[in-house]
Amino acid sequence: MPVREMTEADLPQVLAIQQQLGFQEWNEREFIAEIRASYALCVVFEQTNSIVGYAIFHLMGPDSELLSIATCESEQGKGIGSALLNAGFERLDFANGDQVFLEVREGNEKARKFYEHHGFAAYAERKKYYSDGENAVLYKKA
Ligand SMILES: CC(C)(COP(=O)(O)OP(=O)(O)OC[C@H]1O[C@@H](n2cnc3c(N)ncnc32)[C@H](O)[C@@H]1OP(=O)(O)O)[C@@H](O)C(=O)NCCC(=O)NCCS
Repeated sequence: MPVREMTEADLPQVLAIQQQLGFQEWNEREFIAEIRASYALCVVFEQTNSIVGYAIFHLMGPDSELLSIATCESEQGKGIGSALLNAGFERLDFANGDQVFLEVREGNEKARKFYEHHGFAAYAERKKYYSDGENAVLYKKA
C-alpha cells in the first residue's frame, strides 16, 4: 500500500512538494508538531522510494479537519489525492456523526472540484481570509 504514515525523515520531500506547489507555507517545525500530535493523522503517498503526495488530518470525530493535502505537480490526476483522502476517511465513522471540515481558497478550482467529487459541500465563506485578500470557502463532509 503506497499510503503510509509520515515520519520526520520524510520532511525534506514533503517540504519540497509544498514549495513546488506554493499553496501553503508551513515550516519544518509545524510539520513535526503535526506528526507528534496524538489527534493528527499525517500520511504520505510513496512511489518507488519517493514521496509524491501527503495529507494531514485532525481526527476528532464530529470536529475532524483536513488541514492539508497535496500531490506533486507531475503526479496529479492519477488518484493519489483520492488515496490520501481515503486514508483519513477510513478512520472516521460518517454513519455515526463524524464530520470533516476544511477551508480552501475560493479560486482553487482544482481542489474545490476534487473535494466536491469526494462528497464535501460548501457551507460558508470567509471574506478576505487569506493574507492576500482572497476569500476562503468552508467545506464539510458529513
Ligand atoms: C487537490 C489535489 C490534492 C488533488 O490531488 P490529485 O492527486 O490530483 O487527486 P486525484 O488524482 O485523486 O483526483 C483529481 C482528479 O483526477 C481524477 N482522477 C482520479 N483518478 C484518476 C486516474 N487514475 N486517472 C485520471 N484521473 C483521475 C479525479 O476524478 C479528480 O477529478 P475531479 O476533481 O474532476 O473529480 C491536487 O490538485 C493538489 O495537490 N493541488 C495543489 C495543492 C492544493 O491546492 N491543495 C488543496 C488546498 S489545501
